[in-house]
Amino acid sequence: SKPRVLVTRAVFPETIDKLKQHFDVEANTDDAEWSSEELIRRLQGKQGAFTTGSVKIDEALLAACPDLKICANMAVGYNNFDVDAMARHGVMATNAPDVLTETTADFGFALLMATARRITESEHFLRRGEWKKWSYDMFAGSDVHGSTLGILGMGRIGQGIARRGALGFGMKVIYHNRSRLDASIESELRASYVSKEELLKSADHLVLVLPYSPAAHHAIGAAELKQMKPTATLVNLARGGIVDDAALAEALRDRTIAAAGLDVFEGEPAVNPSLLTVTNVVLTPHIASATIPTRRAMADLAADNLISFLGGNGPLTPIVSPKK
Ligand code: GLV
Ligand code: GLV
Repeated sequence: SKPRVLVTRAVFPETIDKLKQHFDVEANTDDAEWSSEELIRRLQGKQGAFTTGSVKIDEALLAACPDLKICANMAVGYNNFDVDAMARHGVMATNAPDVLTETTADFGFALLMATARRITESEHFLRRGEWKKWSYDMFAGSDVHGSTLGILGMGRIGQGIARRGALGFGMKVIYHNRSRLDASIESELRASYVSKEELLKSADHLVLVLPYSPAAHHAIGAAELKQMKPTATLVNLARGGIVDDAALAEALRDRTIAAAGLDVFEGEPAVNPSLLTVTNVVLTPHIASATIPTRRAMADLAADNLISFLGGNGPLTPIVSPKK
């Protein structure tokens, strides 16, 4: 008999069809919000789970689901997985890297430009009917071309953003990361490695693309924001919790920095209410990888991980947990 797989959130019908060629599939076709009890109940007798970033796989669930052998996440990030507990329970964890890199880097740049050039703030003004006359400083923002782009976390997405900045916009690129890039990649990206302190101090536009880990919690808080230029902008494309959102709202209100663009939030889909009351912030609902072709590719990769692993051929993109 075929292995049994649970698809925990709604996904493309084509992905379900593909999984059905290999597995006995139970799918959450109406995208219902399952409690952890319901998730555990539905996982009984299932060898595989197709998950998204909103589905928590933790010790309690793993202990209650002895048949489970693999969870395939349709996301590059995997802070919804307790990878240590999964290792203890012998459950394979896979993510969906690479296929979203360029799409996510595009969005990072879109958010950077919307933030620097005050695009959403000015649109809201126009929609409110407040545009009555020209004025010399109306929505005057900061330049992107020729400025200094700072990148915290120089993985694949960070490198995609660096390439866009250096080659497309003539930006000077500086970065900080756990490990330094090879000299050949640094020279291709025209990127210089600097300390975190130097990054904060020198960036005109700072983009966060580091993976979430407990060590990265509030990597940008009140103290770090104070080290930035008052004209600087900050973009968080990484994960909620990497920025202290309450401290950021205060820094935006006080003009400690000029503006911010956020695609991820602490406790999302809730958004810190103080962020909603400041005007110099662009807010998007975690959509950096959201293009149809990329979401299809992410779903396909998660499905292919299940097919390969449960077919006895090993995972395609196993998660290697970050070094502590
Ligand atoms: C999105 O945030 C992802 O991790 O794929
Ligand atoms: C993280 O995994 C990245 O691709 O930047």
